[in-house]
Amino acid sequence: MSKHDCKLILALDLPDRAGALEMLSKLKGGLEWVKIGLQMYIAYGGEFVRDVASMGFKIFLDLKLYDIPNTVASAVRSLDGLPVSMLTVHASGGREMMSAAAAAAAETNPELSVLGVTVLTSFNAAGLSETGVALPPEEQVSLLAKLAVDSGLRGLVCSPLELKRLRGTLAEDVKLITPGVRPSGVSPDEQKRVMTPADAARYGANFVVVGRPILRAPDPLEAARAIISDLDIR
Ligand code: C5P
Repeated sequence: MSKHDCKLILALDLPDRAGALEMLSKLKGGLEWVKIGLQMYIAYGGEFVRDVASMGFKIFLDLKLYDIPNTVASAVRSLDGLPVSMLTVHASGGREMMSAAAAAAAETNPELSVLGVTVLTSFNAAGLSETGVALPPEEQVSLLAKLAVDSGLRGLVCSPLELKRLRGTLAEDVKLITPGVRPSGVSPDEQKRVMTPADAARYGANFVVVGRPILRAPDPLEAARAIISDLDIR
């Protein structure tokens, strides 16, 4: 059980720019980090990232990059000047791709942490085996997590159920970021395996990613504050 800080990241999964900025204006001062994923980045691009950062939020850009090392490194370099603090790549892209991404990040923005995504939680053993991966999902997660860290990545996105295992095997400075977090009594939506913010923090998460329980709350600021206070109780 660890006693480190655990912070809240809002998953800003909304269809339109004006609605997203209005949501953020309600949350200003209540939380520090915002995750911008493919939906909003593809629709509104780097300018939207700048708009969110200029409201005072730190940006986690969840693009889950996967391509040949040169292309991924070039994509990371293309973020030069954008105020992004965390960026995701697929660990299954391999050592060379991850090292190239980490090197490009260090070159363009020393504040930028590149994080690895191991096995998508939408995979079960059968789905993974169809792609030629014979290892059980949890072993593949551990293998890719180690490879990501050995390749120079600073952290991993993982399911709450993987926290304990990864925290037990990886160096302490590796950041673990977990979605699939729900305050008790709140709908899991379609998330199959959820954990409360307090438990995720207890099992070693450095960040929890929460979207709908805040975005759909009657009072989003109050919902965010309740999660943050849960993160502190452990
Ligand atoms: O709304 P909700 O709290 O379920 O949002 C969780 C966020 O984390 C979404 O942006 C989702 O894409 C992301 N995510 C997830 N499960 C994973 C990986 C990412 O829910 N295994």
